[in-house]
Amino acid sequence: PSMVSETIRWQTPLAYMRRTALQDYELGGKTIRKGDKVVMWYVSGNRDDEVIENPNSYIIDRERPRQHLSFGFGIHRCVGNRLAELQLKILWEEILQRFPEIQVVSEPERVYSSFVKGYESMQVVIPSRL
Ligand code: HEM
Repeated sequence: PSMVSETIRWQTPLAYMRRTALQDYELGGKTIRKGDKVVMWYVSGNRDDEVIENPNSYIIDRERPRQHLSFGFGIHRCVGNRLAELQLKILWEEILQRFPEIQVVSEPERVYSSFVKGYESMQVVIPSRL
């Protein structure tokens, strides 16, 4: 049940969003000034070992799998997050019912973007189906 959330954390499909600071603020020893444009690297927060245990590992039975930043945080947090989780849950349920084994046969090609952390293509072989 936790695999989808862990995949969304580990992959972090959107690497960041940007905000404009409304007031001066101290963060991690740095001063952010009012009007500064700030990039919030979700992909970095999702690998923060002060908050997430063993963050570089893909662990599908984490205790709190929904504790991640892939959907952002605060009032603009992704309004479609539950739908996205439901779609991926159904997709994986259907895939795993049909295909017991999926072999990745070459290095995936990544999308050329600093924003979208996705794949252009990934070649697989599915040796048999149930
Ligand atoms: C895995 C899939 C998805 C990811 C990783 C994702 C990620 C995000 C992120 C990072 C934000 C920005 C949060 C912020 O600025 O603080 C966002 C906003 C938003 N997302 Fe998603 N999203 C996903 C799927 C969806 C789906 C399926 C829908 C609609 C059905 C959706 C609708 C929206 C909308 C409307 C916003 C803007 C919310 C606002 O500004 O108040 N997203 N999403």
